[in-house]
Amino acid sequence: MFELLQTDTQTAARLGRLTTPHGVVETPVFMPVGTQATVKALDPRELEEMGTQIILGNTYHLYIRPGLEILQAAGGLHRFMNWHKPILTDSGGYQVFSLAQIRKIHPHGVEFRSHVDGARLFLGPREAMAIQRVLGSDIAMVFDECPPYDAPPREQRLAVERTLRWARECREQPRAEGQQVFGIVQGGTNAELRQYCARELVAMDFDGYAIGGVSVGEPEPEMFRAVDMTVPHLPVEKPRYAMGLGTPAQIVELVARGVDMFDCVLPTRVARNGTAFTRRGAFPLKGGAYKADFRPIEEGCDCFACRHFTRAYLRHLLNVNEILGLRMVSVHNTHLYLKLMADIRAAIRAGCFEEFRREFVAGYVPSRR
Ligand code: GUN
Ligand code: ZN
Repeated sequence: MFELLQTDTQTAARLGRLTTPHGVVETPVFMPVGTQATVKALDPRELEEMGTQIILGNTYHLYIRPGLEILQAAGGLHRFMNWHKPILTDSGGYQVFSLAQIRKIHPHGVEFRSHVDGARLFLGPREAMAIQRVLGSDIAMVFDECPPYDAPPREQRLAVERTLRWARECREQPRAEGQQVFGIVQGGTNAELRQYCARELVAMDFDGYAIGGVSVGEPEPEMFRAVDMTVPHLPVEKPRYAMGLGTPAQIVELVARGVDMFDCVLPTRVARNGTAFTRRGAFPLKGGAYKADFRPIEEGCDCFACRHFTRAYLRHLLNVNEILGLRMVSVHNTHLYLKLMADIRAAIRAGCFEEFRREFVAGYVPSRR
């Protein structure tokens, strides 16, 4: 299901091909986030035009609304949202711990109140896999516990033990036809815990492995450390997925560390407050400096927004709260992430990824956030 095509000689970057029931995914890959059965502000035709290979969906949100009955009656998530390429679904583990009001953690899952209407719900490994089976995602994630990055060591250890028990349980559940299941490594910034969690998951033999518990508010160097202490314990022949990451420069750095898959709300989230990504960093398009700037968002970008509209026009739309403004910035930002991945793959293929990385990271100015 995962074919490793090429490994970079100067970095740990890899070129791969992931085969799923809804098609083939070339890695390294970026997955636009479609939490509520839509990639916010973008339709499937636009996603396809930009070269989207796979999107991410969320068990937690879809379980709450519209609910399983509707998704079942629709014939699964692909048909419900009219997206017929691959979908990876997150398990709800992370969302339950970050969004819901938790009532009680049980041996087989979590009792919580919906963040929407306060309804009492239960989600555990069995439920998460049953829901993902109904969704019919190409890749399902195990139900895990992701503690805050500054959780005390005892809590990190308990979360790893729970994550391993739950992973074992997920592994034994029935799946949709051809559905792959990925394990998730937790362990915070503790090298021994990360190694232990990775080794135990690898022994369970998942189709791929995710690095979880990153992008949870930790400083960037800690995030890279957590990835560096995990990747060496993952099998080379399986895909590796860094959950919830990152900025364009972080993605380039993570590819250099051997990560194959990414998802991040950044390009679509910041678009909706008027921030545009470029290869040199992000900038707020609403700023007065762009009032009469009749250049595209990014010179040389061939996205629909840059081919058709100017900064001055998009700034105007954003300032008068017109929907087209945030749609077009979402188009540009998502296109930029996808194009970045295509360039990364081309650089690995051509054997010049280390050069690409050096130039990209040197030219990218991170925003103060
Ligand atoms: N999304 C971002 N981080 C995580 C994580 O640690 N676990 C899960 N399930 N989803 C995530
Ligand atoms: Zn553009």
